[in-house]
Amino acid sequence: MMKKLIGIAAAGAMLVALAGCSGTSAASDGPKPLDELVVGFAQVGAESGWRTANTKDIQAAFEDAGIELKFSDAQQKQENQIKAIRSYIQQQVDVIAFSPVVETGWDAVLNEAKAAGIPVVLTDRAVDSADDSLYVSFLGSDFIEEGKKAGQWVLDEYADATEPVKIIQLEGTTGAAPAIDRAEGFADVISENPNLEVVASQTGDFTRAGGKQVTEALLKSNPDVDLIYAHNDDMGLGAIEAIEAAGLVPGKDIKIVTVDAVHDGMQALADGKINFIVECSPLLGKQLIDIVKQINDGETPEKRIITDETTFTQEQAIEALPTRQY
Ligand code: AHR
Repeated sequence: MMKKLIGIAAAGAMLVALAGCSGTSAASDGPKPLDELVVGFAQVGAESGWRTANTKDIQAAFEDAGIELKFSDAQQKQENQIKAIRSYIQQQVDVIAFSPVVETGWDAVLNEAKAAGIPVVLTDRAVDSADDSLYVSFLGSDFIEEGKKAGQWVLDEYADATEPVKIIQLEGTTGAAPAIDRAEGFADVISENPNLEVVASQTGDFTRAGGKQVTEALLKSNPDVDLIYAHNDDMGLGAIEAIEAAGLVPGKDIKIVTVDAVHDGMQALADGKINFIVECSPLLGKQLIDIVKQINDGETPEKRIITDETTFTQEQAIEALPTRQY
């Protein structure tokens, strides 16, 4: 019942917002032809294989749909994303979509979009705001669930361990939703076995170079580490380089669990250098187009759309690789 009331209120608020915005597809004017719609997308950056696949998928989906896409790359800086959103507001685009680099600090600019009557869609990452009227829909993964899946593999793998299992965690960008949630989900599950101990946890900023650098440093202070949990494939791939440079065998001397399942990560899993990958799908383009069309038609999109995802063992990676899209 409550959900329904919120839905009705959100629909009403959107109609008011759309009606108040000249040049948008206000419900009162009817939908705009798709080739007259303009969407501004403020991307995080190009920090990882996942992000590159996500950008390609979004650009291709807009091309296929015949909807104009204004695209900006924030180079992992919140101030750049805020600037891009402000510029989309000024250009009176029909919809703004963005993947917030960090969770907090968005209320001011999102209130500006709201005041301008421009609906905002969150893709991939969430914002931490008390006011959920600041965005129409949030399309993306359940990052806590991803952390739990990684934790469950570790729990099962070391179910018979009688001695402490030392774990290094390579965190994503500090303050980003996937870094916060993947750490939380993982910690929650591994807490079931007191032998599983995170001995060090540091950010590698979701990049391969960051993963390598942090692993190199942490291996010096923790030479007897058993497992690395990396919040994405790229940092795991960086960790592999650091482990090999230290004369050790990744996947054997030190086990590795990552999140994403992009091509290079899946190849490393197939080669036995990574032991388990939790999938995080970057293919959000088509669903984003559906949301944009719903908004244009005066409909209310689902407030939260969770991406379907799976996990991969080595055997599953070998089977999936030939047809993997990214
Ligand atoms: O927000 C999704 C995360 O961001 C992906 O796991 C990571 O690879 C990317 O940089």
